[in-house]
Amino acid sequence: MAPTSIPDRPGSELPVPELPVPREPGAPYRVCLVCLGNICRSPMAETVLRAAIEAAGLDGAVIVDSAGTGDWHIGGPMNSGARAALTSRGYDGSAHRARQIGVSWLPERDLFLAMDARNLADLRRMAGAQSRDRIRLFGEVGGLSDVDGGEIPDPYGGNAADFGYVLDLLGRAAPVVAGRLAQVLDPASGGRAAPA
Ligand code: 4NP
Repeated sequence: MAPTSIPDRPGSELPVPELPVPREPGAPYRVCLVCLGNICRSPMAETVLRAAIEAAGLDGAVIVDSAGTGDWHIGGPMNSGARAALTSRGYDGSAHRARQIGVSWLPERDLFLAMDARNLADLRRMAGAQSRDRIRLFGEVGGLSDVDGGEIPDPYGGNAADFGYVLDLLGRAAPVVAGRLAQVLDPASGGRAAPA
């Protein structure tokens, strides 16, 4: 599944629509990352995005969590391949427990970032007209539209290289997502982190 490297083609600078404005100005901006099982991609994305948010000085201003559209792994730990990939880069995925997203979550988050087109379609079907503009692709917001259309491939059942590739994609996109979050929270910042 994993290519040997992530293509870096012209086109990654294509304009991406602005993120939705905060539901409650002054309250933390809540971002939920969504995949199928909530044991591989979205918890890895949650880990690296949280680190990027901290690096951008947005700690406390943005709250990140994750969920799956499926119910198979509710309450279970992160997949061992996902955890091993995180560990190899200095992250700790041991505290994660899988959850399934429900309709009640929709009005409680400012932004849902789906890992692939199926997750996006499932979320949009669940939302109907509600919250639709708050549901986007993680890779699109993270500047990966030139790589597999911004979809993060499913590494479930794959090998260490597959999980490493997914983590490369997530790690490349996370600072871009954090920059866009900085911009929507403080349009005057131009997407740069506020000085400490
Ligand atoms: P994830 O990967 O959506 O990235 O967590 C998967 C995890 C479990 C299954 C499929 C994908 N599953 O079929 O159980």
